Amino acid sequence: MNFNNKIVWITGASSGIGEALAYAFAKQGAKLVLSARRENELQRVKNGCTGSPDILLLPFDLEDTSKVDILTQQVIKYFGRIDILINNGGISQRSLTKDTPIELDRKLMEVNYFSYVALTKSLLPQFIKQNSGHIVVISSIAGKFGFHLRSGYSASKHALHGFFESMRMEVYDNNIQVLMVCPGKIKTNVSINAITESGAKLNEMEASHEKAMSGEDCAAQIVRAISKNKYEVFIGGGELNAVRLKRFFPNLFFRIIRKVKSN
Ligand SMILES: NC(=O)c1ccc[n+]([C@@H]2O[C@H](COP(=O)([O-])OP(=O)(O)OC[C@H]3O[C@@H](n4cnc5c(N)ncnc54)[C@H](OP(=O)(O)O)[C@@H]3O)[C@@H](O)[C@H]2O)c1
Repeated sequence: MNFNNKIVWITGASSGIGEALAYAFAKQGAKLVLSARRENELQRVKNGCTGSPDILLLPFDLEDTSKVDILTQQVIKYFGRIDILINNGGISQRSLTKDTPIELDRKLMEVNYFSYVALTKSLLPQFIKQNSGHIVVISSIAGKFGFHLRSGYSASKHALHGFFESMRMEVYDNNIQVLMVCPGKIKTNVSINAITESGAKLNEMEASHEKAMSGEDCAAQIVRAISKNKYEVFIGGGELNAVRLKRFFPNLFFRIIRKVKSN
């Protein structure tokens, strides 16, 4: 797929995987819509996007989806169409289930699940009208198995698979592609920004993320998966073996995974 002049909307574009995706698509001449809460960080990313002919900054909070239809109309009015939506913005979690107030479980679902659903639904009529479109969903290997300190996070990522795999069948005849991306460990601020039981950030770069694959390498693999019209892609290092282990040897997997340290 040639991304030159394609319109690509990336959420969570102010940091990590989303930022790296912005640079990767800019390099290929794509026009971009960059979203996240921090406008100054979006501006910084925009300044680093060499190669893109046009970039629209659209800051908003994924926890409040009441204005997504207005935002979508803004994008369509500005660019006339939209080719790729990358639902990427999100927050992780580091708290025990017994200590986590239900409000935080809801917050994780709002940001990591409902915002993806809301944005996709608001764009779907346009994709159907165009008879084309690509929806990319950044899930996680935590969308394939549960893990310590991540019950709400893992639930929000599992929910994405149910929703988007069902929707994929419905929009197949409209020439709309759905790609599920399951990163393992990627070196970003995800652990620093993860919420704890008090609602405060963990504020710690975990060792496993420090040593992990770079956001740039992750973004390159996502771009490749889009261009190959893949349904699902797993990206990361040795931690991806856990997905295979659960699939083929579930009992052994459960015995091993409960002893694996969270960080
Ligand atoms: N890094 C990994 O190891 C890993 C593994 C599996 C899956 N993932 C997934 O990858 C995606 C990107 O995460 P990352 O690793 O790049 O982490 P990151 O560096 O912390 O970036 C998270 C991005 O999401 C945005 N965001 C967070 N809460 C938001 C909200 N309420 N409204 C709008 N934007 C919000 C942040 O922007 P603002 O703060 O400016 O709003 C930021 O741009 C997430 O969905 C994450 O679950 C990451």
